[in-house]
Amino acid sequence: MSIHLCKIVELPKISNSQGNLTFIEAHNHIPFDIQRVYYLYDVPGGSVRGGHAHKNLHQLIVAMSGSFDIVLDDGKEKKRFHLNRSYNGLYICPMIWRELDNFSSGSVCMVLASNFYDEEDYLRDYHTFLTAAADR
Ligand code: TYD
Repeated sequence: MSIHLCKIVELPKISNSQGNLTFIEAHNHIPFDIQRVYYLYDVPGGSVRGGHAHKNLHQLIVAMSGSFDIVLDDGKEKKRFHLNRSYNGLYICPMIWRELDNFSSGSVCMVLASNFYDEEDYLRDYHTFLTAAADR
């Protein structure tokens, strides 16, 4: 899979002087069926999360609060994304190595995922990932 399949998805934003509202409609905005939602919070400054790829999982990552960076790597190319808007999500297709860093204080990272948690779906060793990515 190529990192060029991974894209920022712009979600609807209803602006109001009393605050903004964003909504996510499964089939209208997300390019997979959502089976799980999880979120990272209370992340200490300087932390690095991720450091793995998924064999089959599709994900959409939203900075619900604050900001952080996501570095995507398909085994050939790398690209760094800065997420700092609650109405933007980064879609990540399967077989992409990702690292999350540069978390601002109080940031919340929400992840929509296409399947339940399954450790068997993870590639946690970078060289194993590179070999698997070259075979696809
Ligand atoms: P992991 O996906 O490695 O976290 P990150 O990529 O954010 O650094 O998961 C960290 C731990 O949490 C690991 O022991 C698996 C567990 N976990 C679940 O039990 N369910 C989940 O939905 C997720 C995402 C992780």
